Amino acid sequence: MTDALSGTAPPWSLIAEVTHACPLRCPYCSNPLDLTRRSRELETAEWVRVMQEAADLGVVHAHLSGGEPLLRPDLAAITAAATRAGLYTQLVTSGVGLTEEQLKQLAGAGLRSVQLSVQDSTPGASDRIAGRRGSFATKERAAAAVRAVGLFLCLDVVLHRENLDSLGDIVELGLAWGVDKLELAHVQFYGWALANRQALLPSREQVARARKEFEQWRARLAGQLELVWVVPDYFEGVPKPCMGGWGVASLTVTPDGTVLPCPAASALPGLDPSNVKDHSLAWIWEHSPAFNAYRGTAWMSEPCRSCPQREQDFGGCRCQAFALAGDAARTDPACRWSPDHHLVRALTEAASKPLPDGDRTGWTPRTPGRNRR
Ligand code: SF4
Ligand code: FES
Repeated sequence: MTDALSGTAPPWSLIAEVTHACPLRCPYCSNPLDLTRRSRELETAEWVRVMQEAADLGVVHAHLSGGEPLLRPDLAAITAAATRAGLYTQLVTSGVGLTEEQLKQLAGAGLRSVQLSVQDSTPGASDRIAGRRGSFATKERAAAAVRAVGLFLCLDVVLHRENLDSLGDIVELGLAWGVDKLELAHVQFYGWALANRQALLPSREQVARARKEFEQWRARLAGQLELVWVVPDYFEGVPKPCMGGWGVASLTVTPDGTVLPCPAASALPGLDPSNVKDHSLAWIWEHSPAFNAYRGTAWMSEPCRSCPQREQDFGGCRCQAFALAGDAARTDPACRWSPDHHLVRALTEAASKPLPDGDRTGWTPRTPGRNRR
């Protein structure tokens, strides 16, 4: 057992980034640019301990994520450890290489659900965004395997400039693949997505069309397919309550054991996050400077400090405040009340105008082997 918490409510979920290795090269990946090399990944016994400590801390839901978790040969052992600890486990996967045999092994280890990504509605478009020929076909087989084994299947599609106009076809793909849930998540600009923002940020008109179409599909498929729309916060003037609040609901353990309040927080300077090799998850959750940096509301300045929304949206996203305004303690510039909101408006206005050379598609694919720690 880990130390009991003295005052901080426990987290609900653990994001276990078991590896940063991945067979795909999506330009919207939220992994950091300095990917952790495989030789620095936690060993099996360390992940087993992390799962038990997470359960002792009060975590209910473990997301086995990455990179591509299937590239860990010990994934079934990690899953079994999470199950033994009493955690609900979800595999977050590209589906590349996922076989029915492997799924049966994971289900035997207690895996409960699969979140499968696809990049677009057709093989050509999806493979182009994923940066891997044939990946759409392997995803289709993976979806069939999940259905055959009887696990819950959520199809996850990151929406951006290149695929937003295919929204209707993407919904039909979800129906054809027999998924239980379809999550349509507008790209969030962290990591590789931030580096590729010009190519990925849709126009305001695209977002408005897609939203209308989504509402029609949601009404039409009510009771048949769970449809989730993750809002494009650059366009709403309303910040997202990122991660359900800093140090409120979730913790992320990166491949080398660093524990972060969100998957993108490694980009924040001066955060000095702790590692599971040095401290228990309970100590890190309650006492580490990184988790306490933006917990609660005392760190806020105006306009958040006196805003009636501050307990609902927690001032938005710290990583976005840093990425756009250079200071993680400022109001999220996505908020219409932020003194930095003009930065977001300038980006969305630029995305609605043609570029002089007409080219927005020059993105940098997520590149294994580059910038790795
Ligand atoms: Fe949220 Fe701060 Fe904007 Fe108020 S001012 S809505 S608390 S981000
Ligand atoms: Fe880090 Fe929002 S992504 S706080």
